[in-house]
Amino acid sequence: MRDETLSAELLAWYDRHARDLPWRVGPAARAGGAQPDPYRVWLSEVMLQQTTVAAVKDYFHRFTTRWPDVGALAAAEDADVMGEWAGLGYYARARNLLKCARAVASEHGGRFPDSHAALLSLPGIGPYTAAAIAAIAFDRPETVVDGNVERVMSRLFAVETPLPTAKPELTAHAARLTPVERPGDHAQAVMDLGATICTPRNPACGICPWQAPCRARTAGIAAELPRKLPK
Ligand code: ADE
Repeated sequence: MRDETLSAELLAWYDRHARDLPWRVGPAARAGGAQPDPYRVWLSEVMLQQTTVAAVKDYFHRFTTRWPDVGALAAAEDADVMGEWAGLGYYARARNLLKCARAVASEHGGRFPDSHAALLSLPGIGPYTAAAIAAIAFDRPETVVDGNVERVMSRLFAVETPLPTAKPELTAHAARLTPVERPGDHAQAVMDLGATICTPRNPACGICPWQAPCRARTAGIAAELPRKLPK
């Protein structure tokens, strides 16, 4: 299957099955041209580092109710932000969150920059988060690779090289599949596929939009991939 066809099949699936998450714009609003709010995309991506979607939802709601935009968060007291973060763990994330909000407020006029390079220069934003924000909030054709994406790519292309050695190869596959149109939805679709169907154990291959082209499924080894080097 051609790369464009693969992405088109996945986007068609996403249009019907996207998870309804509080930082996303629903299908109807999206069809009307609505774009996700960069502040909400950034906040969700920072919270989702090392924390599950289920655990993040309540925190996300409390943060965005109390601080609805980046200017409000930039003006918050450190202790209040640390207090709301309590329970999420990895407290360096919360300290960088505040630094980043203040940098966006003071150096970027309260608007998140829209390029990967400019995002990368902000506190607490590494290559993954920069790519996720550029793709999801600004529809830049950036390739977003997290653990879900690595698993999906390892199966789709039956990459038997173990992680972490396989990372560059898996990233190259993910980059080739990234479409010029709707790269943000594509990135989120691969993540949703990995979270809901192409799961680490007992993948639901029978309902997967990529079941036909999936080489690991054809070979009967989907659940065995990705292989991992012993730690
Ligand atoms: N994990 C990290 N970011 C995500 C997103 N935007 N959608 C789904 N899962 C994610």
